[in-house]
Amino acid sequence: MVKICCIGAGYVGGPTMAVIAVKCPEIEVAVVDISVSRIQAWNSEVLPIYEPGLDEVVKQCRGKNLFFSTDVERHVAEADIVFVSVNTPTKTRGLGAGKAADLTYWESAARMIADVSKSDKIVVEKSTVPVKTAEAIERILTHNSKGIKYQILSNPEFLAEGTAILDLFNPDRVLIGGRETSDGQKAVEALKSVYAHWVPEDKILCTNLWSAELSKLAANAFLAQRISSVNAMSALCEATGADVAQVAHAVGTDSRIGPKFLTASVGFGGSCFQKDILNLVYICECNGLVEVAGYWKQVIKVNDYQKSRFVNRVVSSMFNTVAGKKVAILGFAFKKDTGDTRETAAIDVCKGLIGDKAHLRIYDPQVSEEQIQRDLAMDKFEWDHPAHLQPAAAGADKQVSVVGDAYEAAKGAHAVCVLTEWGEFKGLDYRRIYEGMQKPAFVFDGRNVVDVEKLREIGFIVYSIGKPL
Ligand code: NAD
Ligand code: UGA
Repeated sequence: MVKICCIGAGYVGGPTMAVIAVKCPEIEVAVVDISVSRIQAWNSEVLPIYEPGLDEVVKQCRGKNLFFSTDVERHVAEADIVFVSVNTPTKTRGLGAGKAADLTYWESAARMIADVSKSDKIVVEKSTVPVKTAEAIERILTHNSKGIKYQILSNPEFLAEGTAILDLFNPDRVLIGGRETSDGQKAVEALKSVYAHWVPEDKILCTNLWSAELSKLAANAFLAQRISSVNAMSALCEATGADVAQVAHAVGTDSRIGPKFLTASVGFGGSCFQKDILNLVYICECNGLVEVAGYWKQVIKVNDYQKSRFVNRVVSSMFNTVAGKKVAILGFAFKKDTGDTRETAAIDVCKGLIGDKAHLRIYDPQVSEEQIQRDLAMDKFEWDHPAHLQPAAAGADKQVSVVGDAYEAAKGAHAVCVLTEWGEFKGLDYRRIYEGMQKPAFVFDGRNVVDVEKLREIGFIVYSIGKPL
């Protein structure tokens, strides 16, 4: 029986390994983590992450060929293939702070693998890492190799949160990069045979290590660039009377461009787009490619601009001040169908409004009050560094309260801001909401989910992204 161990039981490690276990019943999969609470949650009825379809997959194989454990060393020692899926956040201190990837967690995982291994291993980079990381990892693994042979593969993950299970069951492609030696190619084949249980062969792309590592950063940069492009257009639409949805449709109908990922929004969020582009920018700068770095940096600048443009719109529309005014925030997660708030646009928007002394009442169907208060108390880039994952101080911010539904959030409010595209926000009884609000009642739709005409008929003043006012 082939044994797989995955270090890191997070948004990637958990779902990815659950799908491997369900598709490959003859492979034993152990997912390990240093976080005791996370592992406890994976072994409980309430999984640590909310992801449609995940519960069913985990329940099918947990305790059979899928195990969650904190006994990191034992499972690593026993495994033939070790996936490393630890967090690789942006550095907050020292050389490259604010841009470079912090590989502390990766390095400590690699050192541990080197220390506990007693047999040859394939070590798979699942985390998103800077190009050439495999070379550094190889050096760490072999520094006290005790005659053990390691093959490093790059196998970046392309799943998106909210659709992780669908993406894993039916990926556009699986990418495997390996050394172009005969041992390297044998390792590529071994990993390929795992995915071949359910992924058609023509969708398993094999490249050299550096292409695989760089392709992951490139894919995220291209995806984010599309959003910044359509968001940049949304500003021009508002200035000219064009409608960004119509423009995006007309542009996306060109088969060379394609219709996906052209939805204008208050700004992209999530743990990866910004982090990975900053990482790319840093690598370009280190290689003396200043113009290339500047090109990609602009994707983030436009995203920051979009978020501050939204805050400015709210404040300027409400007679240039929101001091003491109540603002309902509908949605805090970085997208629908996830409880993840990492780098969500809602953090910057809420901080902007709090800065102008607004009182916020926040509702999100999947995000807890503790998480929201912690996010709003934390500095940029600190969220992914465990030392900083402290609960917010009791009674944290009096300007912010978190409530249990959208109607409660909007009660007595001067304005409603929609920041996540949760389906339930489309079907709300906006007449009821209007009646309970202060007048004039404003709606600022950062996700273009409300029916603008209908809301205007009710009496709302409505602002949508990239639509005529
Ligand atoms: P995460 O923070 O949810 O999970 C990482 C886990 O690794 C944590 O539970 C942490 O406790 C654990 N960990 C850290 N160091 C460890 C160690 N030495 N030993 C054991 N466990 C350790 O992160 P994530 O969202 O799953 O992302 C992981 C990687 O995958 C990142 O590089 C990210 O860029 C990449 N990625 C993420 C997504 C996504 O949708 N979240 C998609 C594709 C790729
Ligand atoms: C993204 C990529 O889509 C995945 O392929 C990749 O594996 C992952 O990053 C990663 O490396 O972490 P994710 O961040 O989970 O996945 O979610 P996306 O669906 O890409 O959305 C990212 C952000 O962009 C969200 O805030 C979303 O609301 C926003 N977005 C997306 C838009 O504003 N407009 C769009 O048209 C699409």
